[in-house]
Amino acid sequence: MSSATPTLQAVSRPSGYASDAPTGRVRIQHLRERKEKGERFSAVTCYDATFARLVDAAGIEVVLVGDSLGNVIQGRETTLPVTVDDMVYHTAAVARGLHRAHLVADLPFMSYRNPDVALQNAGRLLAEGHAHAVKLEGGAEVAESVRQLVLAGIPVMGHIGLTPQSVHAMGGHRVQGRGVTARKRLLADAKALEAAGCYAIVLEAIPQELAAEVTQLLQIPTIGIGAGPQCDGQILVLYDLLGLDPHGHKPKFVKKFANLGEAALDALVQYRADVASAAFPATEHVYHDPTAAAAKIAGA
Ligand code: KIV
Repeated sequence: MSSATPTLQAVSRPSGYASDAPTGRVRIQHLRERKEKGERFSAVTCYDATFARLVDAAGIEVVLVGDSLGNVIQGRETTLPVTVDDMVYHTAAVARGLHRAHLVADLPFMSYRNPDVALQNAGRLLAEGHAHAVKLEGGAEVAESVRQLVLAGIPVMGHIGLTPQSVHAMGGHRVQGRGVTARKRLLADAKALEAAGCYAIVLEAIPQELAAEVTQLLQIPTIGIGAGPQCDGQILVLYDLLGLDPHGHKPKFVKKFANLGEAALDALVQYRADVASAAFPATEHVYHDPTAAAAKIAGA
């Protein structure tokens, strides 16, 4: 392998970095190599520079600025109102915090059905947001847009199964691909996306047997969320895996790796109590002007 394509080998890192974090920038070909070697990789969503630094330090290979920011950042019920401007803004913020992870940005609702519109919007996510690739939802029906983007040199990640931008058409957030017809359709969509030039595909909320079949069928990596352990990679929404919404609904496929929501709540309650009791700010938190006391005595 040439020096232009660094490997994902173990290196020593400054404290706070995962010791087996990838060296250099993770690129599309590394994800393909991982699949070929049977080595799993991880992906998370991210929406700002502070978390991006943490995600990068942990050695996570792929970061997605998901349109789930409509839910977790903007507090909306669905991802449908998220705009291309929103995506550009958050992608640029995340890009400032990342040095190694591969950065993907979602094309939001209605921003890619027309291939020319797709080209314009994806171009903004790469040029202004500094993403390395875009993701879009849908199967064979978006293949023309995928082809157009790939022809223009824009890498595209697909997303099939539960596609939140189609929440109303699907009748809610439901498991997809169950039954013979749905299974065949999902397999056909996966093949159509690969043939159109996608370099990876997210499989969301489908039976693990079907995800395993897609993963076997395709040359390109699959990234599962609620799709079982046999995908080539896994992705979770960052706020879900960190437990940042202590009272929120937790889908079956989410594992909370921390309880940051509870920790944050405890800290805020303590802060409020300390302000009320004047325990904060304490001596170590205040500034002094040594000339102030003398000036006061002198009446100046
Ligand atoms: O927007 C998002 O967060 C996503 C992931 C759930 C894959 O598309």
